Amino acid sequence: MRTKMFTPKDIANMRWFWSDYLKQKTGWLFLIFLMIVLQGFVLQQFLAITETGLRVIFTQGDLRDLLEVCALIFGIFAVRAATSYFIPSLSARLAGEAIFRMRSDLITRVLYFDQKFFDGTHSTDLILRLVNQVQDLGLFVGQATVNALRDFVIIVIVSGYLIYKSPLLFCSALVALPVIFLMMHFVSARIKVIRRNFESVLGRYMSNIDEMAGGMRTIKMARQEKPEINRMVDASSGIKSLFVKLQQSEALMLPSIDLSSAVVYMLVVGGGGYMALSDQFDIDGASIISFLLGLVIIFDPARLLAQFFAKLQASLILLDSIRSLMLTEREVSDRDDAKVFDAKDIEIEIAGGHFGYTATDALFNDLNLTFKAGQKTAIVGATGSGKTTVLSLVTRLYELSSGKVLFNGDDIKDFTLRSVRDKFSVVAQDVVIFDKSIKDNIRYADPDASDEAVLKAAQLARIDDLMLSRGDASVGPKGNLLSGGQKQRIAIARAFLKPAPVLLLDEATSALDAITEESVNLAFQELQHGKTTIVVAHKLSGIQDADHIYVLDSGRVIEAGTHAHLISENGLYASMCMAQSKPKESPQSS
Ligand SMILES: Nc1ncnc2c1ncn2[C@@H]1O[C@H](COP(=O)(O)OP(=O)(O)O)[C@@H](O)[C@H]1O
Ligand SMILES: [Mg+2]
Repeated sequence: MRTKMFTPKDIANMRWFWSDYLKQKTGWLFLIFLMIVLQGFVLQQFLAITETGLRVIFTQGDLRDLLEVCALIFGIFAVRAATSYFIPSLSARLAGEAIFRMRSDLITRVLYFDQKFFDGTHSTDLILRLVNQVQDLGLFVGQATVNALRDFVIIVIVSGYLIYKSPLLFCSALVALPVIFLMMHFVSARIKVIRRNFESVLGRYMSNIDEMAGGMRTIKMARQEKPEINRMVDASSGIKSLFVKLQQSEALMLPSIDLSSAVVYMLVVGGGGYMALSDQFDIDGASIISFLLGLVIIFDPARLLAQFFAKLQASLILLDSIRSLMLTEREVSDRDDAKVFDAKDIEIEIAGGHFGYTATDALFNDLNLTFKAGQKTAIVGATGSGKTTVLSLVTRLYELSSGKVLFNGDDIKDFTLRSVRDKFSVVAQDVVIFDKSIKDNIRYADPDASDEAVLKAAQLARIDDLMLSRGDASVGPKGNLLSGGQKQRIAIARAFLKPAPVLLLDEATSALDAITEESVNLAFQELQHGKTTIVVAHKLSGIQDADHIYVLDSGRVIEAGTHAHLISENGLYASMCMAQSKPKESPQSS
């Protein structure tokens, strides 16, 4: 099987990296290049000067000439020493900047990706790309590539000099080239495959750890520690064996290079010695020694350069993985001519909406819902009937496959996402808590809010006592140091803090105890005043006052109307009401 060193995609990726992140630094890069060339010439001069020194020794010449040679050698290596500092420090800086800009670009892109992307992407996959792979790529560009360029330049300059000194001897040294080249070709194809597997196994391992950390309660109670341990040990043994394979493949290059170098040295010592002994060639002992020295000087760079090309394949995998993020298309984005949506009274309508999370499973077929301005509309229905999805569609987290979401009669797509989402305060079903203090968690809804405003919101959500007693202490990763009900109250406080014209409450009080729920509901009634409100609720007692109620069943509206109307219809809603009003132990949760 013949695999190309660079696929067209690789070339496109490298071109992208070059033009977006390096090109503007061409001046600095050129300076680095000049210093690298200078380093090459230092070595060439070293050979020439050494040859002169050797000749002084062989012909028992003047000691002062020898001293001069030594001084010169010191001088040129001092120059090399200076560049040895400047080259890596400058290139680290350039690579660091390039990587920083690349990370910023990636983050800026990723934050605007569709919700759909995040539904299907493990957070650890993003961490792997944004943290590890970008870092590795930075090291590769900043160190490995610069070193490779240096090696290449050394080889070119010193070889040029050696050819000039003796083309015949140099040609004999070339026998090693095809061997090295073939080996390189073989190894680099292998490495590319291994590296790709390595990254995917590493990603799996990281997501195992993530799931473990997040699901510890479930794991403990189901006593799944052993299977989890096995799963992780398996993944990490996969990492180990791929890592060893990767290193071994890279190491494959070395023996072939060592053997070819032995052959070359033999040819030069034998053949060169013969030439020096015979009178036919204009070559002496000093030339042979400096020639050998030259070969020694280029062998190491040649070896490193071959390794570089092998490693380059691994880095192309990283580059591809990173760039695929840049190439991920968004479905939900602003049209070029999108307007700012600006209205106080907002009527929302879903007209002829078709939607499915996957192309094959349709959830809504011809969904028609109207949420009148300033009114409270409720959506009820069994778990999985599509209530939360309706809220996701009106906030444009997902796009309808056909049909329209209308804001005051205009297509939601006519407006900028930002101006649309600004119109909502949301208490979502799955509460997201950040690892900050309670105060800062509430303030997340409106970063500019004053302390008084935050306190007021906390009071309305009945979380003020806890907020004051916890002070600046963090609530732990994902709010682990809070109860379910406390987290929900933070989410409610956020809605009070940012009173937007449309209020979305998705089972907003499901985790509260009955007494807290009652007082929060009172506060909500206050907040709802004059706003378009959409309430999703399990407990029907909280929505009896709604102006309109939709009953959803598997993505279809099966009943609609006021509470009284629906009761009189004696359908699903009526039976749900009946089931809930049966006397039973009231479950308390918090
Ligand atoms: N992000 C998602 N990707 C794929 N399917 C989803 C996603 N979210 C919800 N679903 C599915 O869509 C259906 C409706 O979900 P949802 O709107 O959350 O229901 P409800 O809020 O009424 O309980 C369910 O069958 C659910 O499994
Ligand atoms: Mg839901």
